[in-house]
Amino acid sequence: MADLRSDTITRPCAAMREVIGAAEVGDDVLGDDPTVQALEARIAEMLGKEAALFVPSGTMSNAVALRTLTQPGDEIIVDRNAHIYVYEGGGYAALCGVSIALVDGISGQMTPSQVKAAIRKSEGSMSHYPNGSLVCLENTCNRGGGACYDQAVIDEICRIAHDADCKVHMDGARLFNAVVVTGVSPARMVRDCDTISICLSKGLGAPVGSLLVGTGETITQAHRWRKMFGGGMRQSGHLAAAGIYALENNIERLAEDHERALRLATEVNQLGGFSVNLDEVQTNMCYIQCEATATEVVAALAAHDVQLFDTDANTVRAVTHLDVDDADIEVAIAAFTVIS
Ligand SMILES: Cc1ncc(COP(=O)(O)O)c(C=O)c1O
Repeated sequence: MADLRSDTITRPCAAMREVIGAAEVGDDVLGDDPTVQALEARIAEMLGKEAALFVPSGTMSNAVALRTLTQPGDEIIVDRNAHIYVYEGGGYAALCGVSIALVDGISGQMTPSQVKAAIRKSEGSMSHYPNGSLVCLENTCNRGGGACYDQAVIDEICRIAHDADCKVHMDGARLFNAVVVTGVSPARMVRDCDTISICLSKGLGAPVGSLLVGTGETITQAHRWRKMFGGGMRQSGHLAAAGIYALENNIERLAEDHERALRLATEVNQLGGFSVNLDEVQTNMCYIQCEATATEVVAALAAHDVQLFDTDANTVRAVTHLDVDDADIEVAIAAFTVIS
Protein backbone atom coordinates (compact mmCIF):
# COMPACT_ATOMS: atom_id res chain seq x y z
CA MET A 1 0.00 0.00 0.00
CA ALA A 2 1.19 3.52 -0.81
CA ASP A 3 -0.17 5.33 2.23
CA LEU A 4 -0.65 8.98 1.30
CA ARG A 5 -3.33 9.77 3.89
CA SER A 6 -1.21 12.07 6.05
CA ASP A 7 2.31 12.83 7.22
CA THR A 8 1.11 11.91 10.71
CA ILE A 9 1.21 8.18 9.97
CA THR A 10 4.99 7.70 10.04
CA ARG A 11 6.41 5.15 12.44
CA PRO A 12 9.66 5.75 14.34
CA CYS A 13 12.71 4.30 12.58
CA ALA A 14 15.10 1.96 14.43
CA ALA A 15 17.50 4.78 15.37
CA MET A 16 14.66 6.89 16.74
CA ARG A 17 13.36 3.93 18.76
CA GLU A 18 16.82 3.52 20.21
CA VAL A 19 17.00 7.12 21.48
CA ILE A 20 13.44 6.81 22.82
CA GLY A 21 14.46 3.77 24.86
CA ALA A 22 17.74 5.24 26.07
CA ALA A 23 16.35 8.66 27.07
CA GLU A 24 17.12 10.04 30.50
CA VAL A 25 13.77 10.93 32.03
CA GLY A 26 12.26 12.60 35.07
CA ASP A 27 8.80 13.91 35.88
CA ASP A 28 8.01 16.79 33.56
CA VAL A 29 4.98 17.89 35.60
CA LEU A 30 7.41 18.37 38.47
CA GLY A 31 9.76 20.11 36.02
CA ASP A 32 12.69 17.73 36.25
CA ASP A 33 12.73 15.77 33.01
CA PRO A 34 16.09 16.67 31.48
CA THR A 35 15.24 15.44 27.98
CA VAL A 36 12.07 17.51 27.81
CA GLN A 37 14.05 20.51 29.02
CA ALA A 38 16.68 19.89 26.34
CA LEU A 39 14.02 19.66 23.60
CA GLU A 40 12.29 22.84 24.77
CA ALA A 41 15.60 24.73 24.93
CA ARG A 42 16.59 23.52 21.48
CA ILE A 43 13.41 24.59 19.71
CA ALA A 44 13.36 27.94 21.53
CA GLU A 45 16.87 28.58 20.29
CA MET A 46 16.06 27.49 16.74
CA LEU A 47 13.12 29.91 16.65
CA GLY A 48 14.97 32.76 18.37
CA LYS A 49 12.53 32.85 21.30
CA GLU A 50 13.00 32.60 25.05
CA ALA A 51 11.07 29.48 25.99
CA ALA A 52 9.04 26.51 24.82
CA LEU A 53 6.52 24.04 26.21
CA PHE A 54 6.20 20.38 25.19
CA VAL A 55 2.56 19.36 24.70
CA PRO A 56 0.90 16.16 23.45
CA SER A 57 -0.54 17.47 20.17
CA GLY A 58 -0.75 20.32 17.70
CA THR A 59 -4.38 20.83 18.61
CA MET A 60 -3.47 21.28 22.28
CA SER A 61 -0.60 23.57 21.38
CA ASN A 62 -2.97 25.83 19.42
CA ALA A 63 -5.60 25.69 22.18
CA VAL A 64 -3.07 26.57 24.89
CA ALA A 65 -1.76 29.46 22.76
CA LEU A 66 -5.25 30.81 22.13
CA ARG A 67 -6.21 30.49 25.79
CA THR A 68 -3.00 32.19 26.89
CA LEU A 69 -3.20 35.09 24.46
CA THR A 70 -6.93 35.88 24.65
CA GLN A 71 -9.72 36.50 27.17
CA PRO A 72 -13.21 34.97 26.87
CA GLY A 73 -15.29 37.35 24.74
CA ASP A 74 -12.33 38.31 22.54
CA GLU A 75 -12.25 37.58 18.82
CA ILE A 76 -9.54 35.84 16.80
CA ILE A 77 -8.80 36.56 13.14
CA VAL A 78 -8.28 33.43 11.08
CA ASP A 79 -8.36 32.28 7.47
CA ARG A 80 -11.51 30.31 6.60
CA ASN A 81 -9.42 27.24 5.78
CA ALA A 82 -7.26 27.34 8.91
CA HIS A 83 -6.86 24.12 10.89
CA ILE A 84 -7.84 26.04 14.04
CA TYR A 85 -11.24 26.75 12.51
CA VAL A 86 -11.90 23.64 10.41
CA TYR A 87 -10.39 20.73 12.30
CA GLU A 88 -10.07 21.44 16.02
CA GLY A 89 -13.60 20.68 17.15
CA GLY A 90 -14.48 24.31 17.78
CA GLY A 91 -11.99 24.36 20.66
CA TYR A 92 -11.46 28.08 20.19
CA ALA A 93 -15.08 28.59 21.26
CA ALA A 94 -15.44 25.81 23.81
CA LEU A 95 -12.07 26.08 25.57
CA CYS A 96 -11.23 29.74 25.05
CA GLY A 97 -14.65 31.41 24.74
CA VAL A 98 -13.61 33.48 21.75
CA SER A 99 -15.51 34.31 18.58
CA ILE A 100 -13.86 34.07 15.20
CA ALA A 101 -13.57 36.55 12.34
CA LEU A 102 -13.13 34.44 9.21
CA VAL A 103 -11.06 35.78 6.34
CA ASP A 104 -11.42 34.51 2.75
CA GLY A 105 -7.76 34.18 1.92
CA ILE A 106 -6.19 32.50 -1.08
CA SER A 107 -4.53 29.12 -0.61
CA GLY A 108 -5.13 29.48 3.12
CA GLN A 109 -3.25 32.76 3.23
CA MET A 110 -4.67 36.06 4.37
CA THR A 111 -3.49 39.37 2.94
CA PRO A 112 -2.42 42.22 5.23
CA SER A 113 -5.37 44.36 4.11
CA GLN A 114 -7.82 41.52 4.81
CA VAL A 115 -6.39 41.17 8.30
CA LYS A 116 -6.59 44.90 8.89
CA ALA A 117 -10.25 44.97 7.80
CA ALA A 118 -11.12 41.98 9.99
CA ILE A 119 -9.79 43.32 13.29
CA ARG A 120 -12.68 44.72 15.32
CA LYS A 121 -12.32 46.52 18.64
CA SER A 122 -14.82 46.88 21.42
CA GLU A 123 -13.51 50.34 22.16
CA GLY A 124 -15.19 52.96 19.99
CA SER A 125 -18.08 50.63 19.06
CA MET A 126 -20.24 51.49 22.09
CA SER A 127 -19.50 47.89 23.18
CA HIS A 128 -21.13 46.42 20.07
CA TYR A 129 -18.02 44.64 18.78
CA PRO A 130 -15.96 41.97 20.46
CA ASN A 131 -12.31 42.70 21.04
CA GLY A 132 -10.15 41.39 18.20
CA SER A 133 -7.01 40.43 20.09
CA LEU A 134 -5.26 37.64 18.20
CA VAL A 135 -4.36 36.99 14.56
CA CYS A 136 -3.60 33.34 13.72
CA LEU A 137 -1.44 32.40 10.73
CA GLU A 138 -0.79 28.90 9.41
CA ASN A 139 2.46 28.14 7.56
CA THR A 140 2.45 25.94 5.61
CA CYS A 141 -1.30 26.06 5.09
CA ASN A 142 -2.70 22.55 5.14
CA ARG A 143 -6.01 23.22 3.35
CA GLY A 144 -4.18 25.79 1.27
CA GLY A 145 -2.48 22.90 -0.52
CA GLY A 146 0.68 23.15 1.57
CA ALA A 147 1.51 26.59 0.19
CA CYS A 148 3.96 28.89 1.99
CA TYR A 149 3.50 32.52 2.98
CA ASP A 150 5.88 35.12 1.51
CA GLN A 151 8.03 36.46 4.32
CA ALA A 152 7.05 40.04 3.50
CA VAL A 153 3.38 39.13 3.99
CA ILE A 154 4.03 37.50 7.37
CA ASP A 155 6.00 40.56 8.46
CA GLU A 156 3.32 42.99 7.31
CA ILE A 157 0.48 41.03 8.96
CA CYS A 158 2.44 41.00 12.22
CA ARG A 159 3.01 44.74 11.95
CA ILE A 160 -0.68 45.42 11.34
CA ALA A 161 -1.70 43.12 14.19
CA HIS A 162 0.69 44.67 16.67
CA ASP A 163 -0.28 48.20 15.62
CA ALA A 164 -3.86 47.20 16.43
CA ASP A 165 -2.80 45.80 19.80
CA CYS A 166 -3.29 42.19 18.68
CA LYS A 167 -0.93 39.29 19.26
CA VAL A 168 0.07 36.88 16.49
CA HIS A 169 0.04 33.09 16.79
CA MET A 170 1.70 31.01 14.09
CA ASP A 171 0.29 27.51 13.62
CA GLY A 172 3.57 26.14 12.35
CA ALA A 173 2.58 22.48 12.40
CA ARG A 174 4.65 22.28 9.20
CA LEU A 175 6.82 25.36 9.63
CA PHE A 176 9.96 23.43 8.73
CA ASN A 177 8.47 22.45 5.37
CA ALA A 178 8.17 26.18 4.68
CA VAL A 179 11.71 26.77 5.97
CA VAL A 180 13.12 24.15 3.60
CA VAL A 181 11.28 25.56 0.57
CA THR A 182 11.83 29.27 1.16
CA GLY A 183 15.34 29.11 2.57
CA VAL A 184 14.25 31.60 5.25
CA SER A 185 15.66 30.62 8.65
CA PRO A 186 13.07 29.51 11.23
CA ALA A 187 14.00 32.36 13.58
CA ARG A 188 13.62 34.95 10.83
CA MET A 189 10.33 33.45 9.66
CA VAL A 190 8.68 33.82 13.08
CA ARG A 191 10.63 36.88 14.25
CA ASP A 192 7.50 38.95 14.79
CA CYS A 193 5.14 36.17 15.94
CA ASP A 194 4.27 36.06 19.63
CA THR A 195 3.73 32.30 19.80
CA ILE A 196 4.53 29.48 17.42
CA SER A 197 3.26 25.91 17.46
CA ILE A 198 5.56 23.28 15.95
CA CYS A 199 4.47 19.67 15.33
CA LEU A 200 7.06 16.93 15.72
CA SER A 201 4.70 14.16 14.65
CA LYS A 202 4.08 15.25 11.06
CA GLY A 203 6.81 15.56 8.43
CA LEU A 204 9.49 15.41 11.12
CA GLY A 205 8.50 11.83 11.87
CA ALA A 206 8.31 11.70 15.68
CA PRO A 207 5.48 9.59 17.12
CA VAL A 208 3.95 12.20 19.47
CA GLY A 209 4.27 15.81 20.46
CA SER A 210 4.21 19.49 19.64
CA LEU A 211 5.96 22.52 21.03
CA LEU A 212 4.55 25.93 21.87
CA VAL A 213 7.24 28.58 21.65
CA GLY A 214 7.26 32.22 22.83
CA THR A 215 8.50 34.61 25.48
CA GLY A 216 9.34 33.31 28.94
CA GLU A 217 6.33 35.11 30.38
CA THR A 218 3.91 33.71 27.80
CA ILE A 219 5.21 30.18 28.23
CA THR A 220 4.91 30.45 32.02
CA GLN A 221 1.22 31.30 31.57
CA ALA A 222 0.86 28.59 28.93
CA HIS A 223 2.25 26.07 31.44
CA ARG A 224 -0.77 26.63 33.67
CA TRP A 225 -3.23 26.20 30.78
CA ARG A 226 -1.43 23.01 29.71
CA LYS A 227 -2.03 21.68 33.21
CA MET A 228 -5.71 22.64 33.16
CA PHE A 229 -6.20 21.10 29.72
CA GLY A 230 -4.68 17.86 31.02
CA GLY A 231 -1.55 18.07 28.90
CA GLY A 232 1.05 17.68 31.63
CA MET A 233 2.97 14.46 30.99
CA ARG A 234 5.30 12.64 33.36
CA GLN A 235 8.24 10.62 31.90
CA SER A 236 7.72 12.38 28.58
CA GLY A 237 11.48 12.53 28.04
CA HIS A 238 11.03 9.33 26.03
CA LEU A 239 8.85 11.28 23.60
CA ALA A 240 11.06 14.36 23.75
CA ALA A 241 14.05 12.23 22.75
CA ALA A 242 12.22 11.32 19.56
CA GLY A 243 11.59 15.02 19.01
CA ILE A 244 15.27 15.87 19.40
CA TYR A 245 16.15 13.09 16.96
CA ALA A 246 13.58 14.48 14.50
CA LEU A 247 14.97 18.02 14.71
CA GLU A 248 18.50 16.72 14.21
CA ASN A 249 17.83 14.30 11.38
CA ASN A 250 14.57 14.96 9.58
CA ILE A 251 14.44 18.60 8.54
CA GLU A 252 16.60 18.78 5.39
CA ARG A 253 15.10 15.57 4.00
CA LEU A 254 11.66 17.26 3.79
CA ALA A 255 12.86 18.45 0.37
CA GLU A 256 12.50 14.84 -0.85
CA ASP A 257 8.85 14.81 0.25
CA HIS A 258 8.31 18.05 -1.64
CA GLU A 259 9.83 16.66 -4.85
CA ARG A 260 7.65 13.56 -4.64
CA ALA A 261 4.47 15.58 -4.06
CA LEU A 262 5.26 17.73 -7.10
CA ARG A 263 5.97 14.71 -9.28
CA LEU A 264 2.65 13.13 -8.31
CA ALA A 265 0.78 16.41 -8.77
CA THR A 266 2.32 17.09 -12.18
CA GLU A 267 1.49 13.61 -13.49
CA VAL A 268 -2.06 13.49 -12.10
CA ASN A 269 -2.79 16.96 -13.44
CA GLN A 270 -2.22 15.64 -16.96
CA LEU A 271 -4.81 12.88 -16.60
CA GLY A 272 -8.43 13.19 -17.67
CA GLY A 273 -10.86 13.63 -14.78
CA PHE A 274 -8.34 15.21 -12.41
CA SER A 275 -6.77 18.59 -11.94
CA VAL A 276 -4.31 20.06 -9.46
CA ASN A 277 -3.50 23.70 -8.74
CA LEU A 278 0.23 23.28 -9.23
CA ASP A 279 0.92 26.75 -7.82
CA GLU A 280 -0.11 25.44 -4.41
CA VAL A 281 2.06 22.33 -4.56
CA GLN A 282 5.08 23.85 -2.88
CA THR A 283 5.62 21.30 -0.10
CA ASN A 284 4.37 17.82 0.75
CA MET A 285 0.67 18.12 -0.10
CA CYS A 286 -1.26 17.55 -3.28
CA TYR A 287 -4.97 18.43 -3.38
CA ILE A 288 -6.60 16.83 -6.41
CA GLN A 289 -9.91 18.04 -7.87
CA CYS A 290 -11.90 15.11 -9.25
CA GLU A 291 -14.72 14.97 -11.78
CA ALA A 292 -16.05 11.90 -9.96
CA THR A 293 -17.05 12.15 -6.33
CA ALA A 294 -14.11 12.06 -3.96
CA THR A 295 -15.42 9.02 -2.06
CA GLU A 296 -15.57 7.05 -5.33
CA VAL A 297 -12.02 8.07 -6.15
CA VAL A 298 -10.76 7.07 -2.69
CA ALA A 299 -12.43 3.65 -3.03
CA ALA A 300 -11.12 3.12 -6.57
CA LEU A 301 -7.57 4.01 -5.56
CA ALA A 302 -7.73 1.73 -2.53
CA ALA A 303 -8.44 -1.15 -4.92
CA HIS A 304 -5.12 -0.26 -6.57
CA ASP A 305 -3.08 -0.15 -3.35
CA VAL A 306 -3.23 3.59 -2.74
CA GLN A 307 -4.67 5.16 0.37
CA LEU A 308 -5.61 8.81 0.66
CA PHE A 309 -8.36 10.97 2.13
CA ASP A 310 -11.18 12.93 0.58
CA THR A 311 -11.33 16.50 1.93
CA ASP A 312 -14.61 17.57 0.36
CA ALA A 313 -17.15 16.34 -2.17
CA ASN A 314 -14.80 16.46 -5.18
CA THR A 315 -11.35 16.78 -3.66
CA VAL A 316 -8.87 14.17 -2.49
CA ARG A 317 -5.57 14.90 -0.75
CA ALA A 318 -2.27 13.04 -1.09
CA VAL A 319 0.49 13.76 1.42
CA THR A 320 4.11 12.66 1.10
CA HIS A 321 6.24 11.84 4.14
CA LEU A 322 9.13 9.81 5.56
CA ASP A 323 7.45 6.49 4.82
CA VAL A 324 6.67 7.27 1.17
CA ASP A 325 9.40 6.50 -1.36
CA ASP A 326 9.75 6.89 -5.14
CA ALA A 327 8.20 3.48 -5.70
CA ASP A 328 5.07 4.52 -3.77
CA ILE A 329 4.74 7.58 -5.99
CA GLU A 330 4.95 5.37 -9.10
CA VAL A 331 2.26 3.09 -7.62
CA ALA A 332 0.07 6.14 -7.01
CA ILE A 333 0.61 7.56 -10.52
CA ALA A 334 -0.20 4.16 -12.03
CA ALA A 335 -3.38 3.90 -9.94
CA PHE A 336 -4.60 7.36 -10.95
CA THR A 337 -3.81 6.50 -14.57
CA VAL A 338 -5.86 3.29 -14.43
CA ILE A 339 -8.91 4.97 -12.91
CA SER A 340 -8.76 8.16 -15.01
C1 LIG B 1 -1.90 22.96 10.28
C2 LIG B 1 -2.20 22.02 11.41
N1 LIG B 1 -2.28 22.50 12.66
C3 LIG B 1 -2.53 21.71 13.71
C4 LIG B 1 -2.73 20.35 13.54
C5 LIG B 1 -3.08 19.51 14.74
O1 LIG B 1 -2.15 18.58 15.09
P1 LIG B 1 -2.54 17.28 15.95
O2 LIG B 1 -3.11 16.31 15.00
O3 LIG B 1 -1.23 16.86 16.54
O4 LIG B 1 -3.51 17.70 17.00
C6 LIG B 1 -2.65 19.80 12.26
C7 LIG B 1 -2.86 18.35 12.05
O5 LIG B 1 -2.86 17.84 10.97
C8 LIG B 1 -2.39 20.66 11.16
O6 LIG B 1 -2.35 20.20 9.90
